[in-house]
Amino acid sequence: MRLRRPLLALGAPVVVLLGCVQPPEAPAGPGVGDPERGAVLMVREACGACHEIPGIQEAEGQVGPPLHGVARRTIIAGVLPNTPDNMTRWLRDPQAVVPGNAMPNAGLSEQQARDMAAYLATLR
Ligand code: HEC
Repeated sequence: MRLRRPLLALGAPVVVLLGCVQPPEAPAGPGVGDPERGAVLMVREACGACHEIPGIQEAEGQVGPPLHGVARRTIIAGVLPNTPDNMTRWLRDPQAVVPGNAMPNAGLSEQQARDMAAYLATLR
């Protein structure tokens, strides 16, 4: 509470700046992925039917590449620079990125894909 008045006095630009800083305990909101939710979703979506995924139960599939160390890879699926936005894009619509590849569109929401991308970002 002590901070409130000086903050108001500093005006909008500072408030906008502060709005960009995510405290570590902040719940994941739009645009921010939650790795724990991502892990749960990956089990539900059966990503492990096609991929080996560390930390995901029974994820031992051999159709797609193993996802060990995927966070360290520079390019996703051979075409997209590995950024959180691009990973989200890939997960939502792999067929648009590499038409005809074996990974199906799972009908994920933006938030679901962001959550999965956040989990994948932990696989170093
Ligand atoms: C039917 C099999 C199949 C399923 C199900 C599947 N994938 Fe894939 N996945 C693939 C294939 C095949 C590729 C390689 C595509 C390419 O490189 O063109 C791939 C590529 C990827 C990549 C890029 C890996 C790299 O090293 O570039 C990621 C990340 C990925 N999948 C995550 C997922 C996640 C998360 C799910 C669950 C929502 C999922 N996949 C479901 C087959 C699958």
